[in-house]
Amino acid sequence: MNSEDIKRAAEIFRNAKRIAVLTGAGISAESGVPTFRGKDGLWRQFRAEDLATPEAFSRDPKLVWEWYNWRRGLVGKVEPNPAHQTLAKWETVFPEFALITQNVDGLHVKAGSKNILELHGNIWKLRCTKEETVTENHASPLGEIPPRCPACGEMLRPHVVWFGEALDPNILHRAFSLCSLCEVMLVIGTSAFVQPAASLPLYASDAGAKIIEINPDPTPLTSYANLFLQGKAGEILPLIDQYLGTI
Ligand code: OAD
Repeated sequence: MNSEDIKRAAEIFRNAKRIAVLTGAGISAESGVPTFRGKDGLWRQFRAEDLATPEAFSRDPKLVWEWYNWRRGLVGKVEPNPAHQTLAKWETVFPEFALITQNVDGLHVKAGSKNILELHGNIWKLRCTKEETVTENHASPLGEIPPRCPACGEMLRPHVVWFGEALDPNILHRAFSLCSLCEVMLVIGTSAFVQPAASLPLYASDAGAKIIEINPDPTPLTSYANLFLQGKAGEILPLIDQYLGTI
């Protein structure tokens, strides 16, 4: 990684009042969580249509829950990495710092971030299919599959957004509003393939924000980025943080 680029990124952050961050699966890769579309990505091994759509859940809730139970087991064993930790620290350093994530793994929360918009939900939350109530549940493995609502006995589903489902309009509205107001938007570890999340940085850019992207590989967003830091988030973010400490 070119140290001039790290220095430039640190200077952009230093001069910004409002910072927004969008993260994707790549930020958790160094913790050991598989991404979706990479070489060993989940969507290379599994068919999203069978596991992550409302139709799949209606057809075979047990199969869908087995997959989520497996993923909860996997994610429950890993720890946040230096990229999650640096973002949690920056939330306490910068006056207006908002984190928007596509990840459902809960690792930002585990790292200590508090001001988070979880666009696609959270794998540690379950939702009643009848009453829509959302509860936190960290049991791994789950005792019963599919789990049942303790209040009404109906089936619970993972509180995540599946393909073909709309995002929570309040969360989406807040995300777009943060993007319209931020001066800098940092985009980390997303293939920028899934909408509407992928539009957020473009929206911020149109509203005048500087875009900094961190990813080992270029993405459709790279040509819009003011600065592309090519590499791993867990290595680059601590370097920027170190540099911020010295200016
Ligand atoms: P993807 O799997 O599509 O993309 C992961 C990105 O992370 C790729 O661009 C990688 O190059 C990059 N990457 C890999 N290792 C990295 C590292 N160490 N540091 C930084 N970047 C790294 O994941 P998303 O873009 O998050 O939806 O996928 C978006 C959505 O598609 C997910 O939220 C999920 C999935 O279907 C739901 O769960 C609803």
